[in-house]
Amino acid sequence: MHWLFQAVVSTATLSLATGVPAPPKSESIDIFELPLPPVAPTNDTGACNTSINPRHTGCIGRTSDFFQAGDFAPDGNHVVATVEFIGAPLAPHAASIFTGQQLILIKTNGARFSTGDPWKCLSCGVPSQNSRSLDDARDYPHIARNGQQALWGHNILYCGGITLVSERCTPDKVHIYPIYWPAGANSSGSPREMRMHPDDKHIGWSAFTSGGENSYYGRLQFNESPTNGTLRVPRYDLVGVNLLAKPNGTAPIMAQGSELKIDDQAIGVGELRGFSGAGDEILYIGPTHEANNIDVFAVHIITGVVRRLTSHPEYADPIAFSRDNQWFVTMDTRGSNRQMWMAGMRHIPPLVDLVTVTAASSTRNNGARRFFQPILIDRYGDRGDYFGQHVNYAGNGTNGSVNDPNWNGKADPAFSPDGTHIVYWQSLVIPPACGESNPLPCPISTAQGGRTYRVMLARLATRKPISPVPVFDAPDTIPWATQFPPGASLPSTYSLPPGNYTLRGKHSGFAKTRIAKDPLLNIIKMVSVEYTDFSDDGEHYLHGHEAVTLTLSASDPWLNHLDWYSDILQTGATNASKKTGLGLPSHNKCPRKYF
Ligand SMILES: *[C@@H]1O[C@H](CO)[C@@H](O)[C@H](O)[C@H]1NC(C)=O
Ligand SMILES: *[C@@H]1O[C@H](CO)[C@@H](O)[C@H](O)[C@H]1NC(C)=O
Ligand SMILES: *[C@@H]1O[C@H](CO)[C@@H](O)[C@H](O)[C@H]1NC(C)=O
Ligand SMILES: *[C@@H]1O[C@H](CO)[C@@H](O)[C@H](O)[C@H]1NC(C)=O
Ligand SMILES: *[C@@H]1O[C@H](CO)[C@@H](O)[C@H](O)[C@H]1NC(C)=O
Ligand SMILES: *[C@@H]1O[C@H](CO)[C@@H](O)[C@H](O)[C@H]1NC(C)=O
Ligand SMILES: *[C@@H]1O[C@H](CO)[C@@H](O)[C@H](O)[C@H]1NC(C)=O
Ligand SMILES: *[C@@H]1O[C@H](CO)[C@@H](O)[C@H](O)[C@H]1NC(C)=O
Ligand SMILES: *[C@@H]1O[C@H](CO)[C@@H](O)[C@H](O)[C@H]1NC(C)=O
Repeated sequence: MHWLFQAVVSTATLSLATGVPAPPKSESIDIFELPLPPVAPTNDTGACNTSINPRHTGCIGRTSDFFQAGDFAPDGNHVVATVEFIGAPLAPHAASIFTGQQLILIKTNGARFSTGDPWKCLSCGVPSQNSRSLDDARDYPHIARNGQQALWGHNILYCGGITLVSERCTPDKVHIYPIYWPAGANSSGSPREMRMHPDDKHIGWSAFTSGGENSYYGRLQFNESPTNGTLRVPRYDLVGVNLLAKPNGTAPIMAQGSELKIDDQAIGVGELRGFSGAGDEILYIGPTHEANNIDVFAVHIITGVVRRLTSHPEYADPIAFSRDNQWFVTMDTRGSNRQMWMAGMRHIPPLVDLVTVTAASSTRNNGARRFFQPILIDRYGDRGDYFGQHVNYAGNGTNGSVNDPNWNGKADPAFSPDGTHIVYWQSLVIPPACGESNPLPCPISTAQGGRTYRVMLARLATRKPISPVPVFDAPDTIPWATQFPPGASLPSTYSLPPGNYTLRGKHSGFAKTRIAKDPLLNIIKMVSVEYTDFSDDGEHYLHGHEAVTLTLSASDPWLNHLDWYSDILQTGATNASKKTGLGLPSHNKCPRKYF
């Protein structure tokens, strides 16, 4: 009722200018840890013995490079996960099938499967003729809304029309088909990060080439006996592929004579992150709208209207919407203070980002360690003083508690179909992000068997079940996108010429901007900006300058060296300064507490 009441209040306070309601109040959330298979102490054959798992249904490791929890089955009582089973005995022992990366279901309501376990393996022991050419990518596990199929990395798992949660779905009934993109291998890079549309038919993904990352959208089409391509087994073809870029799109920053123009409606689907709850919008990490402030955006499938969902200075990435399209949960570093030194001053146009974006986005990690926690935000996103709510705010901060900052969020979170629960998973900091030469001591895991990953179920205590909105009728052809049939090559993209430019504030003032390129690599290597009374909103004014020079490593394009000088004063609605000095800012070290 609490929540419904707020919705009424929000409607009453709708801003006539924008249609954006007042932000919701924070709400009460309880967190529970979900069960996983027991931990075996070693990888040795047979280490998963009867003392550890008397039911012979598999063991997992203390650490795993492959573990990933996914989303809910339609009944809301199960979530799907990729686990890595270890320590199985050799065949012909019945338990030998519990080995390697597998897809499991976990009960979320305390119930058990008929085996007595709160989990069940869907992919273990599937006859080899039912699983020909299983693709190695088994990430981002997802259950289709029809409950009968799972997207398992670059594979579709299907139980012959039986719902996956049913006891009748046994290994002999399961088929696993690889997903095949005929055009994918060469010009456009290998597909990654596949996410299914709520219509269970369309799919989105990203791929890297030397020119950067692009994202795509296509339809899954079952091909029982392929007569072309390199994969001649029953497979799902990706057909009707759209490159998620306008055919002759505008770049977010373009030169027009001696002026720079910034277009916040330019579509730049960097890394695809999925779809809204109804499937009317594509979610992605896109070009920054404020300097060094990396955010999640949504673009409407038909209209191409871009919405910025997050604007907190820190880094947002994985995201999931509720099925009524009214809420999303994102994995975000906000509260960790890892990005505040470079993005804490708001309302700076994203000019230095032309050279800083790779380094800026990498500050969310320390190697395998992410600094994410789940953040609950309404569909209109961050605005004013509203930056959503930490889902795991409660807890006493002790080792292993729900808000222990040594347990960091991973991808992807998910809402239960009725909107009353959120599932997310976390991993514990492990060497080399702690211990050894790192001054941060390594915590001792409080999870079962010393496990360093855990799946958490959040109950939104005051919410009533929602009704999902109808799934958006997603087209095969996205009107604003670029058709990308087999054999197509990537169109050339806009390249900002080096030179001296003026960017005019939308309200007042200007920014004299100098852009220099590396003549050999043809990439921007230096941006220098001098702000004079610059203001886009008539409330925040910038004065001073910022200059960043990028030096790329000859051997590793991901290794960026930046020489960064800032001396910016902000006046108006906020008095602030951004000034570089010698040495690391103290808050750039790993925080122990952030709530
Ligand atoms: C199972 O392995 C553990 C060591 O990992 C050992 O202590 C235990 O005795 C074993 N149990 C059986 C039944 O072999
Ligand atoms: C299992 O082996 C892998 C490498 O093969 C290693 O990364 C992992 O830590 C091992 N797990 C356990 C529980 O020993
Ligand atoms: C991709 O490259 C391989 C090897 O370079 C070549 O054999 C194959 O025909 C190419 N495929 C396409 C679709 O261009
Ligand atoms: C491959 O075969 C499928 C039908 O099996 C057809 O739809 C598709 O156009 C073919 N692709 C190419 C590149 O010939
Ligand atoms: C794309 O835009 C460029 C630059 O504005 C223009 O020169 C070119 O003709 C356009 N191409 C098409 C196909 O519209
Ligand atoms: C912190 O909370 C945990 C439960 O999450 C409890 O076991 C522990 O006693 C609490 N510690 C303190 C110091 O309150
Ligand atoms: C909690 O973990 C830290 C390492 O992060 C460790 O130094 C400390 O001893 C642990 N505290 C307890 C009570 O186990
Ligand atoms: C840009 O301005 C700088 C001085 O600020 C000058 O040295 C440089 O030659 C100019 N570059 C161009 C392309 O005009
Ligand atoms: C900013 O500083 C000026 C001068 O000290 C002061 O008049 C103004 O009230 C301050 N503004 C804010 C928002 O604090």
